[in-house]
Amino acid sequence: MKELNNACEAFRTLLQEQLARIENMNCEKTDFSTKKTVTIGVIDGDGIGPIITKQAARVLEKLLADEVAAGSVVIKQIEGLTIENRLAKNQPIPDDVLAEIKMCDVLLKGPTTTPHGGTMESANVAMRRELDLYANVRPVSIPEKNIDWMFYRENTEGEYVLGSRGVELPGMAVDFKVTTDLGTRRIARAAFDYAKQNGKNHVSIVTKANIMKKTDGKFTAICHEIAKDYPGIEVEDYYIDIMTANLLKESLQSKFKVILLPNLYGDIITDEAAQIQGGVGTAGSANIGDRYAMFEAIHGSAPRMIERGMGDYANPDSILKAAAMLLRHICRGEAAQKLENAMATCPVKITGGTDGATCAQYADALMEML
Ligand code: IPM
Ligand code: MG
Repeated sequence: MKELNNACEAFRTLLQEQLARIENMNCEKTDFSTKKTVTIGVIDGDGIGPIITKQAARVLEKLLADEVAAGSVVIKQIEGLTIENRLAKNQPIPDDVLAEIKMCDVLLKGPTTTPHGGTMESANVAMRRELDLYANVRPVSIPEKNIDWMFYRENTEGEYVLGSRGVELPGMAVDFKVTTDLGTRRIARAAFDYAKQNGKNHVSIVTKANIMKKTDGKFTAICHEIAKDYPGIEVEDYYIDIMTANLLKESLQSKFKVILLPNLYGDIITDEAAQIQGGVGTAGSANIGDRYAMFEAIHGSAPRMIERGMGDYANPDSILKAAAMLLRHICRGEAAQKLENAMATCPVKITGGTDGATCAQYADALMEML
């Protein structure tokens, strides 16, 4: 009985916190086209993180050298978001590190390690919450197959928001999934705006609303409500299970354009999509909020690569693509294009193994092309 009461009390607290989160959801958008100084924070991360991020930061420094000299862009290294420091401070983002992060506008972040089990929250999830980065935007494209997918993954709710805050009773564990009206509206709006602005005439809404009736039911209903403001864009519902199969089906691949989905399904399916493109090392990821944005690789810190002594061969393509997305986000489209062109035509090839170049050799070759 006591345990049941404790669990109910914990649930009440969680609901109250979520209601408070909704209250604070609206904030003013940063306008990078007019902002006088844009501050970019670079966070190395763990495992292969420092290896790939160092090269991506070099590339950014070169592309933005004139702006850095003129003071319209500041690039600064942010230390301390390492697994060692996070465990020592027992915080997913140590307070002093978070304070520094909040003084930046955008971040380029290497992958960070999340311990299995325990209660330590993932640094990524904490960052998405603290900076309210509600849109996880992941492009996947294979021109020769006519595949041009843009995933809009809700990034602050679903199973993630209380993923480290579940409750346990003897013999039972319960986690929670949260979907809010405002949280869904803003990600749906972002996806449809993207579709409209980029001439994409198809949006797939992907859920498991046949089973998760309240949360995914709400997500679907609100997305359709928003869709009404975008005539001319075809909207289709899919369940996540069949969508994972559809992405592999050649006759359907080119039909999908913008794919809008809740957090956990988005996490899973974007790894699948990246694999179809050539591997998780090949896709970039943007976490976008109204005030802040964070750009990163979609893969993890690859501790096994480090253990095998292969860290130097890590492929930085994913974080380089993220760097290009960062440049576009801060309205430096020309620099982004330069980087993408260099990546597409670079004569030095990286494979992630000893048959290819090291991360640094590959970056050197790219630098020469910028
Ligand atoms: C991703 C990653 C993260 C997630 C991890 C590192 C917390 O898999 O960005 O897709 O689950 O969202
Ligand atoms: Mg993932």
